[in-house]
Amino acid sequence: MPKLAAFVFWGWQAVIVAAAISLPMGYTSGKEYAELEWPIDILIALVWVAYAVVFFGTVGTRRVKHIYVANWFYGSFIIAVALLHIVNSAAIPAGWMKSYSVYAGVQDAMVQWWYGHNAVGFFLTAGFLGMMYYFIPKQAERPVYSYRLSIVHFWALIFTYMWAGPHHLHYTALPDWTQSVGMVFSLILLAPSWGGMINGIMTLSGAWHKLRDDPVLRFLIVSLSFYGMSTFEGPMMSIKTVNALSHYTDWTVGHVHSGALGWVGLISMGSLYYLIPRLFGQKKMYSVPAIELHFWVATVGIVFYIAAMWIAGVMQGLMWRAVNADGTLTYTFVESVKATYPFYVIRALGGLLYLAGMLVMAWNTRMTVANGRSVATSVPAGVPQAA
Ligand code: HEM
Ligand code: HEM
Repeated sequence: MPKLAAFVFWGWQAVIVAAAISLPMGYTSGKEYAELEWPIDILIALVWVAYAVVFFGTVGTRRVKHIYVANWFYGSFIIAVALLHIVNSAAIPAGWMKSYSVYAGVQDAMVQWWYGHNAVGFFLTAGFLGMMYYFIPKQAERPVYSYRLSIVHFWALIFTYMWAGPHHLHYTALPDWTQSVGMVFSLILLAPSWGGMINGIMTLSGAWHKLRDDPVLRFLIVSLSFYGMSTFEGPMMSIKTVNALSHYTDWTVGHVHSGALGWVGLISMGSLYYLIPRLFGQKKMYSVPAIELHFWVATVGIVFYIAAMWIAGVMQGLMWRAVNADGTLTYTFVESVKATYPFYVIRALGGLLYLAGMLVMAWNTRMTVANGRSVATSVPAGVPQAA
């Protein structure tokens, strides 16, 4: 289905362009991570359904009977994101770029965070777990540690994620018992998350030495350490009394980026370093020391970012709740902003390092491509190939 695949690619680019134009013009539905107005939402739904048809169509025409666990994760990512997007974006249009959500008040918030937390679980996690299950065994040249665990991991993870959303709405108008259900499911979520992390890391058992001289493998494995860290931190932050301190502070932002930069970012880079030379008929990337450099620059950048946000977040939470003996607030809000300033400088430094790592990767990719040739040996006959 090359035409449909091209529609998915160009359709998604069109969504990004439409977002970049419509958001600065002030068109927004006001829903976090789901701000785009209804005509763009419909385009997203069409592109995503086409993506599902391409993916499952390809899986349907496979030559082996078995469907490897990576594809289960990838498939669940595609189905869940379609479901979340369509349900959460349901709205009644009131003009070309204006609509009202079909849900009202606290139900709207509940649906929104059912969507929001599963965006973490499926958009930022399930597909990347699929990559983890494919690329770690490939790069380590070893079978996955436990196939049985991967199946338990899959079902436990997708079931548990669906119920954790209310931890984003602690101490709101949402019924208290619903918040507690969200908290309990978030605590349970630690188990499947760590099961997956352990399965990935233990794939190296007996071959730990490979970590010493293979920077690509290091990207893949260290991404799992960040995954383990953020999925430990998340359940802790979902405990109501902890959330009373962390909510609204930069602690949340630190948590977000240990997942986003550490887990999502590093696993993607490791996977790309595996793919790029193979796509261009090369044995390895143009420069292995450049991969090494990228790894360290990115890792140090992430640590600067998240450590700064942890300190800033806890400090903000403590400053905001401090009261004098007479019951008045000890600090004004602006004092907490001023106290946070140095940590924003450290975060900027961390972000710059991370960006610098990406520039090193872009250069290395450019050199690898320049030395290589496009290979399409595994593409079946009849599929158009790059010249
Ligand atoms: C066991 C897994 C996880 C649990 C239980 C969890 C829990 C939480 C909690 C309690 C919050 C703070 C909510 C608030 O106070 O507003 C939060 C925020 C967030 N988490 Fe996680 N987290 C987990 C894993 C992850 C991972 C792996 C990522 C990224 C890849 C991630 C991305 C986010 C984002 C983007 C937010 C901010 C949402 C917003 O805009 O308010 N989380 N998470
Ligand atoms: C160099 C890399 C990056 C830097 C410097 C950076 C910086 C930032 C900053 C300054 C914010 C606003 C925080 C605030 O509201 O005070 C933010 C928010 C956010 N970023 Fe990043 N970011 C980076 C990469 C990423 C990546 C790769 C992802 C996703 C894979 C991501 C996901 C998010 C999310 C979900 C939020 C909203 C968090 C919330 O509202 O709690 N970021 N980022």
